[in-house]
Amino acid sequence: MDNDVIRVKELTDLLNKYNYEYYVLNQSSVSDAEFDSLMQELMAIEKRRPDLKDPLSPTSRVGGGVSSEFKKVQHKRMMLSLGNAFSESDLRDFDRRIRQATGLNKVPYMMEVKIDGLAMTLVYENGKLQYAATRGDGNVGEDVTQNVITIHSIPLKISDQRNIEVRGEVFMSKKALALNNEERMRENLPLMSNARNAAAGSIRQLDSKIAAKRRLDAYWYYFVNAEECGFEKHSDSLDYLKSLGFKVNEERRKLYGIDEVIAYVKEYTEKRAKLDYDIDGLVLKVDELALHDEIGYTMKTPKWMIAYKFPPEEVLTKINDIFLTVGRTGKVVPNAVLEPVRVAGSVISRATLNNEDFIHNLDIRIGDYVYIHKAGDVIPEVSGVDIKRRPDGLKMYHFQEDCPYCHYRLEKKDAIHYCVNENCPSRNINKLIFFVSDQGMDIKGMGPSVVEDFFNLGIVKTFSDFYRLEEKKDDILNIEGISEKSYNSMVKAIEGSKSNDAYMFLTALGIPMVGKKTSQILLSKYHSIDEIIEASYDELVSIEEIGYQTATNIIDYFNKDANLIEFSKLQELGVNTLVIKKEEARDNFFKGKKFVLTGTLECMTRSKMTERLEKLGAVSSGSVGKSIDMLIVGTDAGSKLDKARSLGIRIIEEDELLSLLEEAEA
Ligand code: IVH
Repeated sequence: MDNDVIRVKELTDLLNKYNYEYYVLNQSSVSDAEFDSLMQELMAIEKRRPDLKDPLSPTSRVGGGVSSEFKKVQHKRMMLSLGNAFSESDLRDFDRRIRQATGLNKVPYMMEVKIDGLAMTLVYENGKLQYAATRGDGNVGEDVTQNVITIHSIPLKISDQRNIEVRGEVFMSKKALALNNEERMRENLPLMSNARNAAAGSIRQLDSKIAAKRRLDAYWYYFVNAEECGFEKHSDSLDYLKSLGFKVNEERRKLYGIDEVIAYVKEYTEKRAKLDYDIDGLVLKVDELALHDEIGYTMKTPKWMIAYKFPPEEVLTKINDIFLTVGRTGKVVPNAVLEPVRVAGSVISRATLNNEDFIHNLDIRIGDYVYIHKAGDVIPEVSGVDIKRRPDGLKMYHFQEDCPYCHYRLEKKDAIHYCVNENCPSRNINKLIFFVSDQGMDIKGMGPSVVEDFFNLGIVKTFSDFYRLEEKKDDILNIEGISEKSYNSMVKAIEGSKSNDAYMFLTALGIPMVGKKTSQILLSKYHSIDEIIEASYDELVSIEEIGYQTATNIIDYFNKDANLIEFSKLQELGVNTLVIKKEEARDNFFKGKKFVLTGTLECMTRSKMTERLEKLGAVSSGSVGKSIDMLIVGTDAGSKLDKARSLGIRIIEEDELLSLLEEAEA
């Protein structure tokens, strides 16, 4: 045999072995230098003899393949999602159902940590990895093999020659996130705040060299065709995967009956923070494979396993300072400057303190140690003070009497302070920020910091100034960080916003109580904003959904000359004020259904998701009642979830939502 062939085989075997020792077993029998030199040698031979280059060579782990898009992969077996349990009693209910379905008194289970990453499936044939695919809509995923093989702990070849499918989670460890961010800081790149999104984003890179640099890892938790391969228990099938070289999480445990399950939950609620990767819950699985089909499946989830989701995480950190922000309506909100701390997967350094009463009720003082949680919303909140840790001599917090931005005396109404100065710079900046934001005119590339710079440099003082940016081109290009290219795309986005539907323009004006919903209602009754301006108070309140205060606010707003003049200017500059007739949505799952959206979605903001659903003809609602067709829940959903459960309303989680959307939008 050709010497090169022999050497390639030797090197491949050695490198695979060392790789496995290092990345799966966390030990190594060679030095980095030795490993590198073997790798260089293999690369050199492959360069000289391309005919000997195996696509699954250890050298392919460094990445290199760039694709223009990911190929679609039809899953051999559907990739389902999981039902959720949020409490001990939910788990006991699950156990009761399993006992009923199986006739067992005590059920043998397996419980595992629920890693917060990205689901992945690996397919092997003849001992070789054929492809790696994402979940997608459960039926069809994307082929991300080029990126996945850069994860060193994943075996490219296995000793079992049968067709084998293995599922698991690709994730970024806390340590990897920290190292990646150190690098990004040096390179002046924005930091990644959340390991899960960072992992998902890395796998979606078209250039596999990027994925290769992100220090991703993976745990494998499901041998899809285990029964076919002769296994009777899920636990045994995982042990076998481990023996084949897969990284299988060691926190898994066989449990017998629900009491052991509850004890495991308690143990891991404590242990969670100590793990080097984020987990958002635990997964409970019936161990006996033969029982799986017997217990069965719903449309989207297996009935023989369930995810236990942890309650919103709380962490302790110090308040270094308190500062006030003044929003566009003049509402003053106190905020805590925190010693940066990780909570629910992100690093937090600010938290809202809501208002003066909130601070006083909890007796929050600068210098205190406080508990932070992220619940129901993306904005983290302080939930209490750890009095035992309070350093001596901390003074009670005194709410500032004057606006920190314009020094007007603050006025208090109910629990809230307001700056009533219409010309307060903070209010004005926030009006402008709102105008261009995705809640208003949705002008891309005009983030809050750009608007702030423009305001401070006198480039933009009023809404209409946005539409005359060309006059200030030189000033703008002088701003650090704004290139000719970004300027051009800004101007293009602004130009594009002129043809927005009128309700967006009306919302963007920021009239108190006239948000997107109200604007849409108004513009379903009138043909243009001009007609609304003409409308009388009586006419406005005769619209069912429009209350007295809203009508008053609209009348007051357009009674002010300055506002009317500004409106006309915008109109003259070409901003559309007419209703654009919408095409009716095609038939799909969401059309005509009323939904409430609650909790934090991972994939996009709630308002973006609402927009997407509305495009499909769904109707958004703020509160859960009998008329609602579905409650869509993100993480940390609160009382709405309980209410929907008690009303028996269909609850849709993000995973399921995404697959339904994919179907509906196809
Ligand atoms: S079993 C039917 N085990 O959680 C799906 N899933 O919320 C089979 N996950 O899609 C999943 N750790 O991406 C299972 N030990 C574990 C897991 C786990 C994380 C993810 C998985 C799944 C999602 C469901």
